[in-house]
Amino acid sequence: MLQEASSLLQVKKGKRYIDVTLGGGGHTLAIAKSGGVVLAIDVDEEAIRFVEEKITHVAEDVRREITLCKGNFREIGQIAKREGFTKVSGILFDLGVSSHQFDTPSRGFSFQREGVLDMRMDSSLAVTAKDLINGLSKKELAKLFEKYGEEPFSNKIADCIVEARSMQPIETTRDLAFIIERRMGKSGGMHPATRVFQALRIAVNDELHALEEALSASLQLIGVGGRIVVISFHSLEDRIVKHRFSSFADQGFGSILTKKPVTPTLEEVAENPRARSAKMRVFERGTV
Ligand SMILES: C[S@@+](CC[C@H](N)C(=O)[O-])C[C@H]1O[C@@H](n2cnc3c(N)ncnc32)[C@H](O)[C@@H]1O
Repeated sequence: MLQEASSLLQVKKGKRYIDVTLGGGGHTLAIAKSGGVVLAIDVDEEAIRFVEEKITHVAEDVRREITLCKGNFREIGQIAKREGFTKVSGILFDLGVSSHQFDTPSRGFSFQREGVLDMRMDSSLAVTAKDLINGLSKKELAKLFEKYGEEPFSNKIADCIVEARSMQPIETTRDLAFIIERRMGKSGGMHPATRVFQALRIAVNDELHALEEALSASLQLIGVGGRIVVISFHSLEDRIVKHRFSSFADQGFGSILTKKPVTPTLEEVAENPRARSAKMRVFERGTV
């Protein structure tokens, strides 16, 4: 939803924007090419290095409008203040993992690729998915799968994980997917490990708390008429965004521009199947 997000941000020449999820730099570059001055943040050192290199091939007048910064968006308040990005015209969140992270087996995000169960977006974090899978009790695992994966068979899955790891530690993405598949069976639809992988990723990166903190801080950073645009990829994230925006509006801070979330076009989903669950919501700061 690159196009929609860019147009909803209403980028104006010389105005300041924060892209809190740099990833491969697609949105950041689109904003800078439209004349915006961008502070781009990512918690993943690899994303920063990748875009640092990518923008060396971009025109000087675009490149100089981009400031790259490694950090967690939950610290957006401090980072923006330090970089002089207060009273900005727009803040963009494009949540989740990047294609690069997902497609790199050693990052451990995908059960379709053999890799160590890592799932840290920030490699300086202490706890990996492997630590959780092998270290939590059966009850804790079931709770985690239910809370962050909305997994209806959380107890059954926790049970088969505990049984499998009593023989040997669960090390890799494929090991975990296979253990779940063996117990749950595999029908034509969603892989039975999908929700477990989502839950682990959310827990490892503390994603939902980071989002809540960042949304609150964003309200303080946005100038009058400025917009917060959030693209989310699952219902837990979308619920947080929806409630937070409603609460901002109820307190008189501005208005929600998307009564219903914007979803990708059929063409976009055909081109990029991962976009199928994307939902975009936009809040505009009023005069208060
Ligand atoms: C879906 S990708 C963004 C793609 C990007 N919009 C583009 O055009 O290429 C999400 C990115 O957000 C980063 N991210 C996720 N949670 C974060 C957080 N709490 N703080 C900073 N970056 C985060 C991930 O590391 C990943 O690179």
